[in-house]
Amino acid sequence: MCGIVGAINGGKVASDLLTGLRRLEYRGYDSAGLAVLQNDDFHLHKAQGELKNLEKLMKTDPIDGRVGISHTRWATHGEPSELNAHPHTVKNICVVHNGIIENYQDLRDKLISEGHEFLSQTDTEVIPHLIVKYQHQGMSVEVAIQRAIQDLEGAYAICVMDKYAPDMLFAARHGSPLVLGYGEDTHYVASDAMALAPITQKVSYLEDDDFVALNQHHVEIYNGNGTHVQRAISVSNIKEDDVGTNGYEHFMQKEIFEQPDIIQNLFFKYFNRRTLGFRREQININFSDLKKMTIVACGTSYYAAQTAKYWFEKYAHLPVEVDIASEFRYRESPMAKDGVALFISQSGETADTIAAMKYAKSWNQKTIGIVNSERSTIARECDLDLMIEAGPEIGVASTKAFTAQLMTLACMAMKAGIDRGALLSDDAIKMAQQLSELPEKMREVLDDKEIYDDLAELIKDHSTAIFVGRGLGFPLAMEGALKLKEISYIHAEGFGAGELKHGPIALIEQGTPVIAITPDDALLEKNISNIREVQARGANVIPVGDCSSIKDIGVSPKQAVKMPSSTGITMPILYALPMQLLAYATTCAKGLNVDKPRNLAKSVTVE
Ligand code: F6R
Repeated sequence: MCGIVGAINGGKVASDLLTGLRRLEYRGYDSAGLAVLQNDDFHLHKAQGELKNLEKLMKTDPIDGRVGISHTRWATHGEPSELNAHPHTVKNICVVHNGIIENYQDLRDKLISEGHEFLSQTDTEVIPHLIVKYQHQGMSVEVAIQRAIQDLEGAYAICVMDKYAPDMLFAARHGSPLVLGYGEDTHYVASDAMALAPITQKVSYLEDDDFVALNQHHVEIYNGNGTHVQRAISVSNIKEDDVGTNGYEHFMQKEIFEQPDIIQNLFFKYFNRRTLGFRREQININFSDLKKMTIVACGTSYYAAQTAKYWFEKYAHLPVEVDIASEFRYRESPMAKDGVALFISQSGETADTIAAMKYAKSWNQKTIGIVNSERSTIARECDLDLMIEAGPEIGVASTKAFTAQLMTLACMAMKAGIDRGALLSDDAIKMAQQLSELPEKMREVLDDKEIYDDLAELIKDHSTAIFVGRGLGFPLAMEGALKLKEISYIHAEGFGAGELKHGPIALIEQGTPVIAITPDDALLEKNISNIREVQARGANVIPVGDCSSIKDIGVSPKQAVKMPSSTGITMPILYALPMQLLAYATTCAKGLNVDKPRNLAKSVTVE
């Protein structure tokens, strides 16, 4: 949440700052701001709303300088407004911040009692005030920044300019990510390597509690103990194509269509192409004697975890407990001796999931991260990380990360089944065969994309939509509902079809859209009985299923999504696609911003 970019090159930095901000807009788009230091003074622009508003301002009234900092905001403290937009300036100090300062109210009250005057409602503004306060006590800017951050509780990544040190830029992190970029005669600071991809591939990832002082030619890094340290420079493998829409209308659309290739590559990672044998060495965990496994995640990643529970229990006879991270971290749940805990996170930076992982570590669990971002906090801090290899996901609604998480979890469940003797080798080969056919079936589903425009018309004007499924269809129903509500703003809920009679059926009115996940599986008959019950009460059912299941539900073929055949291991991955396409088409039909839905941001680095 929130993205920051800083640059110093002794010439002109504004265009690089804007380039970086464009890549970070997925982290927040409530407001944006940019400040440069030129002729011993700060020049600053801020604009409410998306980055394009700031860009307009920069065109009509250009500012530039030898050093600068910039920010794209996801509001936490204080409404999204120009006043609350970063950077925040107090006297000679100018700051951008990503994170939350939890004790800001106490700090603010104390600073006010000492005569400081605040202009914004943000938690951030305490930071420049503290730095100025310590400078007035005689500290150098470096020492004052390091002293100020000792007062902060919470998470932060900050970038600081000082009018009296015009050839310097400063940065620090605690709990929020930060990278340094090395360009030609230019040094950069940014929230992630993707921001810098169009400018430089050479980056260093800062460790927690690092403090950095940079000028155009040198970088000095100190760790949390104040020791001078080096952080390795690596070449990021993010390509320009990864951060553009590549001919698609939206990132979400591009990411939906990338899925067959991602699943195919993951298949080749986990299975021998010729024999279909499982490549056990790819998952370095022995599940044999495990009594129980815990899986923790948020949002879409949580629905991947819910799906995996069915797989681990069925194919590996391994009991699994699944929890949402924001609850788990405070639940004080006792954890099994020698247990394994799995943390699923696309970004690897979700604050609640990181805290849950730390809790599990305090119970001596072996922690496994299933992540998309190689250098993320979860990837670095877990005992074992399994990369889902989906490439950067920029659309705020998670799509390709979900199916890549599912594929990875399906393979893990198979490995667990093999380790525990619960999955016979013939069955494992059959499942591998089914997974090998999955990318082609996904392509088939994506080829049929026109139908979703018609279905969107059935949904777009309703205030409520219901998703139902049974078994593996239940977590998928919840994921389908999340996709629809988060981008189309239609209130959507996902239910286990068998649970409808216990309350949710009261929501059904004449014409309420009910998206029914009805694969041809062992629960189909029961599923169909539940669907008839909502049809009898006026629901407009949109089945997503095999031909036979659709026929049984008796709706017009134009009102149904016909799916290729699937099995327990492939169904959730294949059926995720119509959920995504339906949400996408409905949102486009409503003329809303698909990639940047209101109030949301991609990487939830605050509680
Ligand atoms: C929904 C969505 C969110 C994320 C959730 C967890 O489309 O994207 O619900 O799934 O914020 O994020 P990660 O997986 O990065 O921990």
